[in-house]
Amino acid sequence: MILISPSILSADFARLGEEIETIHTADYVHFDVMDGVFVPNLSIGLPVLQCVRRATDMVLDVHLMITKPHKYVGRFCDAGADIVVFHLEADEPQDVLAALDEIHAKGKKAGLALKPRTPAEAVLPYLDQCDMVLVMTVEPGFGGQSFMADQMEKVTAVRRMITERGLSCDVEVDGGVNPETAKVCIAAGANVLVAGSDVFKAPDRAARIRELRG
Ligand code: DX5
Ligand code: ZN
Repeated sequence: MILISPSILSADFARLGEEIETIHTADYVHFDVMDGVFVPNLSIGLPVLQCVRRATDMVLDVHLMITKPHKYVGRFCDAGADIVVFHLEADEPQDVLAALDEIHAKGKKAGLALKPRTPAEAVLPYLDQCDMVLVMTVEPGFGGQSFMADQMEKVTAVRRMITERGLSCDVEVDGGVNPETAKVCIAAGANVLVAGSDVFKAPDRAARIRELRG
């Protein structure tokens, strides 16, 4: 089953509650956190997540693009995240493991994200502890960028590693996803699709979410 996770980075933040209501037929709400250090942009954080948690029952899929995520994952769990995904490039290996454990200890799902230049194999030491692997299909930091088709080999490699180990781990793609590129991602092995600008710019968001499912 294909799950759609619209990124509210492309929503109107002044009307965030109503904006989330318009995507209620999706599966997750994708919440992008940027610290201006790990990525060259700043976005939203804990206080906004707490408000979003009160505004919706949808699954909150939090994508941390921050340095030293192990220092913050617990607070994002407490603020209402259901899934916390962070970048494995952003921490030391022992801290990556500790962060995954902490998210699970809070009763939440944990995932690791890979930047475009990070190889699939980098996730292997952590795969047993992951509920989701996020393969970035743009350089993290901004919405509205073009899809990097060269990341599809990585999606397939990650999916293969999961299957070979008999794990039930989701493979999420993020960046430049639209109805055309969604098909390519699904064929490569992704089952969770993040789409920001494509969903929020669509005149009929529910119809666009349906279309993305393929
Ligand atoms: C980029 C973010 C994405 C972004 C996707 O760093 O992680 O979630 O919102 O935006 P689109 O779908 O417009 O590429
Ligand atoms: Zn994201």
